Amino acid sequence: MAVKKAWGGRFSAEMHKQVEAFTASIDVDRRLAPYDIQGSIAHARMLAKCGILSKAEGEKIVAGLAEIREEIARGEFQYDQALEDIHMHVERRLTERIGEVGGKLHTARSRNDQVALDLRLYLRETIGVIREGIRALQRVLVSKAEVHLNTVMPGYTHVQRAQPILLAHHLLAYFEMFQRDRDRLADCLTRVNVLPLGAGALAGTTLPIDRAYVAKLLGFPVVAANSEDAVSDRDFALEFLSASAILAMHISRLAEELVLWASAEFGFIELPDAFATGSSIMPQKKNPDVAELARGKTGRVYGALFSLLTIMKGLPLSYNRDLQEDKPPVFDAADTIRQMLEVLPPMLSAINIRADRMRAAASEGFLNATDMADYLVTKGIPFREAHEIVGRIVRHCIETGERLEALSSGKLRQFSTAFGPDVAKHISLEACVERRRSAGGTSSRRVAEAIQQAKRTLRRP
Ligand code: ARG
Repeated sequence: MAVKKAWGGRFSAEMHKQVEAFTASIDVDRRLAPYDIQGSIAHARMLAKCGILSKAEGEKIVAGLAEIREEIARGEFQYDQALEDIHMHVERRLTERIGEVGGKLHTARSRNDQVALDLRLYLRETIGVIREGIRALQRVLVSKAEVHLNTVMPGYTHVQRAQPILLAHHLLAYFEMFQRDRDRLADCLTRVNVLPLGAGALAGTTLPIDRAYVAKLLGFPVVAANSEDAVSDRDFALEFLSASAILAMHISRLAEELVLWASAEFGFIELPDAFATGSSIMPQKKNPDVAELARGKTGRVYGALFSLLTIMKGLPLSYNRDLQEDKPPVFDAADTIRQMLEVLPPMLSAINIRADRMRAAASEGFLNATDMADYLVTKGIPFREAHEIVGRIVRHCIETGERLEALSSGKLRQFSTAFGPDVAKHISLEACVERRRSAGGTSSRRVAEAIQQAKRTLRRP
């Protein structure tokens, strides 16, 4: 038998089966059930407080909703496409359980303000989980940095060896990126935490409701100021997706480095067996699939942002059914980010770092050439001229296969009389790193300070 629609009064014919399938969202929005019920309980309490429902009616509805929440948690709840979305499902079940009074829950409310509320409650919780996941990843970065405070590696520009740095410094660069992600998500929460309920379908309600009371019950510091904006605004979801896209981009950069570093060409890290995969044809292979998938799944998160931006583009005020399409991208991006943040911290912490290989790579390729030029600057030579002199020395070394620090001062004086016997010490790997004491630089003193600062940041909410 066909399910009676909530709008049955106005209609004489039944809905076409294809329309039912096309318009239903229950398969996607059923996961909003806990938030839908949370919002409905607050709404019912407010209706009773304002005398729109009797106290007994309010209590009956709240108790019925709590039972439905249990039913859903136990997996006993029945879903039916004919009931369209989660809001209709909960309301219908409520009436089944407590009788006609269940029909009073939807007083002074529309699914338009209701669904906006559900999505905000969902995002508020999800952002909390994601921010904790980022913190877990940051913790691993900091503890690895502490272990590797003296591990020297090549720093790169253009993927060409540039100057020696500490691995700890490199790891803390990611700490900074992820801290900005955490801050961005916290900032986004201020726009998520605005109560849309009470906007009704679009224009407010004729009934004497108390929106501030609902906001208080649900922990929203602000009530949406304009009812039309309240039912049609999805900026908060766009901000979440945009913060997620940037976060995923950061994850993809870290993932890319892990892929490169695990290659024989770099050999900077060894992947733990538990986080690597083999090949079905090449017996020798150990592949960094987790990092590759983290890199690849970033595309889905970008896609989610573009889906929702496109859905919103040109929408006239106020609610339009297009808005139902907001949920698949939001859920998919959130699930993807959560998965990434679950697998990356344990993988990163189990990675074996080949400090010897990093050091060897930093010792080759004239990474101390800048420091040799800086040495000449300390002897009064203009930097441009010093650059030219050291350039000629590097070319000489490339021809002879020598290293800068191995050249005798006699040899060096052929290029410039400013060279003294102290130059070799000046351009040793350690000296190159330790002299970079400028704020934010890679010297071990600055990096040790940065680790302490990072630990303080991690203690902040
Ligand atoms: N399922 C809808 C959505 O997700 C909410 C219901 C509003 N529907 C309507 N016909 N006014 O946006």
